[in-house]
Amino acid sequence: ETEILYADPEGFDEAVNAAVKLLESGEVVALPTETVYGLGANALDESAVAKVFDAKQRPSFDPLIVHIAKREQIREICELSPELDEVVQKLMHAFWPGPFTMVLPKKSIIPDIVTSGEPTVAVRMSAHPVMRAVCKQVGKPIAAPSANRFGRISPTSANAVEKELGGKIPMIVDGGACNDGVESTIVRVELGEKRPELHLLRAGPVVKEDLQKYGKVIRPKKARNVAEAPGQLDSHYAPATPLYIFDKPEDFKPEPGLRYALLSYRGASRDGYIDLYDWDVVEELSPGSGKLTEAAVRLFFVMRQLDESGVDAIVAETVAETGIGVAINDRLRRASVPQEPA
Ligand code: TXA
Ligand code: MG
Repeated sequence: ETEILYADPEGFDEAVNAAVKLLESGEVVALPTETVYGLGANALDESAVAKVFDAKQRPSFDPLIVHIAKREQIREICELSPELDEVVQKLMHAFWPGPFTMVLPKKSIIPDIVTSGEPTVAVRMSAHPVMRAVCKQVGKPIAAPSANRFGRISPTSANAVEKELGGKIPMIVDGGACNDGVESTIVRVELGEKRPELHLLRAGPVVKEDLQKYGKVIRPKKARNVAEAPGQLDSHYAPATPLYIFDKPEDFKPEPGLRYALLSYRGASRDGYIDLYDWDVVEELSPGSGKLTEAAVRLFFVMRQLDESGVDAIVAETVAETGIGVAINDRLRRASVPQEPA
């Protein structure tokens, strides 16, 4: 059975202590972060890390993100030349703690199972007080991928983690809903000829415009296979219900007898999906503010709700391709069954 411990914002020592105890004994624990919930394990303990892959049913070729509590810890796990160190220091001070992950050359202390044999490791320092306290108390890097079954919707609440992994892990620390709602931005940092090169492996809350001050932002070419670019798996974040995205609303040709849900940015959005069809269910990503940040926070929650609503298919509107909208559209595209216009 999975125990759920509530981490009260006013005092979460008890929950943190329980999580630390489990992690120190080689167990896995689901923990809140500002992006999505993670499934944590001591990154230096291979058999603990193996339990993460096992619980998530994650293929061994997909490497994990390692979380640290203090910036200095990066030198324990990453091999940094003085030049690279200088670039990394600037990025750390700009974006940590926060939803930002750097892929850097690893030291041998990080076991191969964590990085799927890659010579690099993905590192991040979360801003979530519970994740930070746990990392600090354990005193070791914590490997923590999103706490969902492989390829499914990322969890942004303890309840969602329970649905994904309940019965398979000993504990979930409930730190409430996640603030950002989409996973961290991942950047592979390289020196480059004139300016540092920031290879954007995953769009996230730290957006391109933020990164440009620190180097040349490069969007990697589409990989032919996962081995070539871990983390660039095409299908990901998928609900069990087929989710479709169309180039234009008119491309949607409903099949008679099926029940459709609309995942709308806002009811009266410019795209005009809402009046196109008599939808069985409509959920809005940004009903309150009409802001992209609100849409990001609600994205996985709404996807999960529609998935559970019993419709036969979900039609999703995309959002403006600016700021965190890039990350939202990326997740929607990965969740979708590609629909060529007829
Ligand atoms: O916001 C987040 O980053 C959340 C929270 C829990 O911290 N974590 C997360 O982990 O999203 P995960 O495992 O679901 O996604 C990590 C991604 C994977 O797609 C993986 O392939 C990629 O990071 N990755 C990890 N190590 C890598 C490496 N050495 N090179 C390239 N990509 C890497
Ligand atoms: Mg994930």
